[in-house]
Amino acid sequence: MKQSEKWWKEAVGYQIYPASFKDSNNDGIGDINGIRQKLSYLKELGIDFIWINPIYQSPFVDNGYDISDYQAILKKFGTMDEFDALLAEAHQMGIKIIMDLVINHSSDQHEWFIESRQSVDNPYRDYYIWVDGTPDQAPNEWQSIFGGSAWQYDEQTGQYYLHIFAKEQPDLNWESDKLKDELFTMIRWWLDKGIDGFRLDAISHVKKDEYSVKATENPFSPFQNVSGIEDHLTELKNVFDEYDIMTVGEASGVSASEGPEWVGENGYFDMIFEFDHISIWKHEKDGDLDVLSLKQSLSAWQRALDGKGWNALYMENHDVPRCVSVFGDTSPAYWQVSAKAIAMMYFFLQGTPFIYQGQEIGMTNLPFSSIDEIDAVDSKRLYQQLLDEGRSEEEALDIVANTTRDNSRTPMQWNDHLYAGFSEVAPWLLVNPNHQMINVADQTNDPESILSFYKKMIALRRENKGLVYGSFNEYLPENEQLFVYERVLEEERYLIIVNLTDEAATYTLPTEIKTTWEVLLENQSGQEFQSSGTFAPYEARLYRKI
Ligand code: GLC
Ligand code: CA
Repeated sequence: MKQSEKWWKEAVGYQIYPASFKDSNNDGIGDINGIRQKLSYLKELGIDFIWINPIYQSPFVDNGYDISDYQAILKKFGTMDEFDALLAEAHQMGIKIIMDLVINHSSDQHEWFIESRQSVDNPYRDYYIWVDGTPDQAPNEWQSIFGGSAWQYDEQTGQYYLHIFAKEQPDLNWESDKLKDELFTMIRWWLDKGIDGFRLDAISHVKKDEYSVKATENPFSPFQNVSGIEDHLTELKNVFDEYDIMTVGEASGVSASEGPEWVGENGYFDMIFEFDHISIWKHEKDGDLDVLSLKQSLSAWQRALDGKGWNALYMENHDVPRCVSVFGDTSPAYWQVSAKAIAMMYFFLQGTPFIYQGQEIGMTNLPFSSIDEIDAVDSKRLYQQLLDEGRSEEEALDIVANTTRDNSRTPMQWNDHLYAGFSEVAPWLLVNPNHQMINVADQTNDPESILSFYKKMIALRRENKGLVYGSFNEYLPENEQLFVYERVLEEERYLIIVNLTDEAATYTLPTEIKTTWEVLLENQSGQEFQSSGTFAPYEARLYRKI
């Protein structure tokens, strides 16, 4: 079946982590006015919408994912007037804005929770999940995603509340209609302002299982994509359907076979961030990339949704280390080609591509040398846990430094100045020392740069509808180095071949591919199309049928 046409299918998204994007007033923290200053950069890059990580009022225990007022802007990011100005300016330039919506949990400083914990009969009590227990006996053994028990004992009323992330992020109780009504009212308030959609944080967690249920081999199974979630998500969808917007859900624990239910014609969202291909990296932090697993997980989602629904395509976000470090190669010989290879590999799949700030210039992980340089709440916890388990400080730091999401949260590298043009003062998180080599200013006028490559990819996707709507066929699925796929829309045909390894790869393509191909984009100048031949390390090419 052919995909229906929608603006958000043809769009390219850009994720902004506001604390680290651009600091306009030199307090070391990025802000709304910083985003306004860089809109022309984004316009030139060619993207169509930005997704901004949370900028709401928050004690910032989990960097804004702990919201204490959904309808207020955190002072250090700016004011609501500045946000309105950003929205108007972006719209004027043809850039849409998607906001982060964090409704699985709130901050423990939200007035709902402050009320809720007062007494068992407080009107806000059932906005959260309170369960009996004794101080030394939690209701069950559920573990938090950030480590430790998912339950926190509250002395005042002698009950536990559930928090599947940090203890400062109590889970909202979606079984309460009153709570849901409040959330839906807040959602409409933002949409009435004219924003263009939402990224739904942790949305596969809003339904919890019975407390007697134990975790499977997946420690988060009792609160991840639990049966019954469809009722909550349908109610949410009904609110979204009142508006012409785009929605993208963060959907850990949702499998490709369930994809159509989530993002099909009548799905809950327009697209979701799946976790299958991301999970591969975690195991591979030191070793070589498992190319076959990567191909299999991406292809499975492509096949599951082809003609039935829509993918969100991403290789980076604020929760995972930089992709060129984890499964490209940051050595001088391969940094640029591997960043481009990874880019081409995911960008021309079927779906809406997202670029995470800095990915478009090949930003890398940072060599953290002390736990004090790390900010992320889960990383600090993991470090402590590793020490408690008997690891040395050195070992613990090594593990944490390689896996921490702070790798992707270091300030955006605009130029080679002291603080990378992000700020005039020392930022809240270290600037990567490699900003002298890797920065926007240097790459802007270099036609061979990673940045120029991204611009070309975006332009090609805009000019060739087959790259947006074309169906997906994979070739050589067993090849352990090359990812080979074709996109077909009626007469239009495109072929993508990417070597994902640092060794040359030989191949023979099946006969059905034999036609006349022209090169549209390549990351190493070289050969014409050959139906069998060799691809150099990290060589990547996009061909179009003539
Ligand atoms: C999502 C966010 C992450 C946050 C968590 C809790 O996974 O992407 O940054 O810590 O939810 O809100
Ligand atoms: Ca600032």
